[in-house]
Amino acid sequence: MRKLVIPKVTQASATKLPYPDNYFDAVFTDPPYYDNVPYSYLSDFFYVWLKRSIGDLYPEFFMTPLTPKSKEIVAYSHQEGGFEAGKRYFEEMLKKAFKEIARVLKPNGIATIVYTHKSTSGWETLINSLLESDLVVTASWPIDTEMKARLRAKESAALASSIYFVCRKMERKETGWLNEVKEKIKNHIHKKLESLWEEGVSGADYFVAAIGSAIEIFGKYKKVMDYEGNEINASKLLEYVREIVTDYAVKQILHNGIAEQLSPLTRFYLLWRWTYAEARVHFDDARKLAQSTGVNLEKEWNKGLIKKEKEFIRVLGPQDRTLDDIGNEEMVDVLHKVLLLWKAGRKEEIKDVLLETGYGRKESFYRVTQAISETLPVESKEKKLLDGFLGIKDKLKDKLDEIENIGKQRRLFE
Ligand SMILES: C[S@@+](CC[C@H](N)C(=O)[O-])C[C@H]1O[C@@H](n2cnc3c(N)ncnc32)[C@H](O)[C@@H]1O
Repeated sequence: MRKLVIPKVTQASATKLPYPDNYFDAVFTDPPYYDNVPYSYLSDFFYVWLKRSIGDLYPEFFMTPLTPKSKEIVAYSHQEGGFEAGKRYFEEMLKKAFKEIARVLKPNGIATIVYTHKSTSGWETLINSLLESDLVVTASWPIDTEMKARLRAKESAALASSIYFVCRKMERKETGWLNEVKEKIKNHIHKKLESLWEEGVSGADYFVAAIGSAIEIFGKYKKVMDYEGNEINASKLLEYVREIVTDYAVKQILHNGIAEQLSPLTRFYLLWRWTYAEARVHFDDARKLAQSTGVNLEKEWNKGLIKKEKEFIRVLGPQDRTLDDIGNEEMVDVLHKVLLLWKAGRKEEIKDVLLETGYGRKESFYRVTQAISETLPVESKEKKLLDGFLGIKDKLKDKLDEIENIGKQRRLFE
């Protein structure tokens, strides 16, 4: 006969769990993501009604007039000390919560922690908190958790996935040496990045998934040091991860079959973003880069993409251009057109442009889009457009397939 197990629900702060050491086989937790959502304030709306309707049935949960806020693990900026204080508080509390998880977990137990954030500082805090606990990440999985149609995702480049970290309770190795750790991260991430792309992870989620993979490597050590004896902090480690992902995304394009499908101007654009991002560059340096990709700078600078400003050159992003001035031939122009249409919410026209130009069915078009996104900083307007567009990539491709199939069937019956 089956034994009925009645679950027991307890309310307590994650920073002080009312359980003895080595008690649980597994712990699953989905902590707040830094400053993403003010949960307690949002809950107040429901809390006041619940208190009136079922408050007498569960008096222990409704003792305070509004939801308790003092132990909430969020990086708020409206309290004393502003955002810096909020950030420190978040990190301290998360650290305590992870230590508690490690304490209540059996020695061979398993913990799964869900987390995601777009900003580097959001990741720094997670890494710092995790490295101070006895939880060591042994695997990480990006899983689509967010509704694509939710309000925040619609007009922004919000993340679609969260990273599920699988952790074991174990002792960390004392020191990892930077050169060796970097090499290990590189090898590990390269393997992961290709399969992530195949699995449809793109846009801002691509880099975030890479961070997860990198933590699997450097999270094994108590500290990472260079040979001069400097300890490498989380922000530096994240910089290396960014470098590895960007180099990988760009080199994949420039050194494999896709490179031949790119025109000199598109190659130039990708290389420019990779080398100079959105900076203004002296003409001499700009000309060298142009020459290496077969672009004649003087010929191009009146056509809309490349602008000469006295002795400097600027390569415009989509936000600096207007739809009427952009052509339909060069991949980079079509990309800019599509991004401006995406910004204006003109999705039907995106399909038309991609069908008309044929780029919508080319894998190289999406790879280039991803690679350019990787070269730009999080706050870049162009990056936001790129990631937003990549967020609808899979749906768009399905739609284009559908349109093409209908066309084929029609032709069959003509
Ligand atoms: C990312 S949300 C979890 C969402 C949940 N997985 C769901 O799908 O509804 C993080 C949660 O952690 C809670 N939280 C914040 N500080 C806490 C603390 N000190 N102890 C326990 N939970 C806390 C928040 O109230 C919020 O509900």
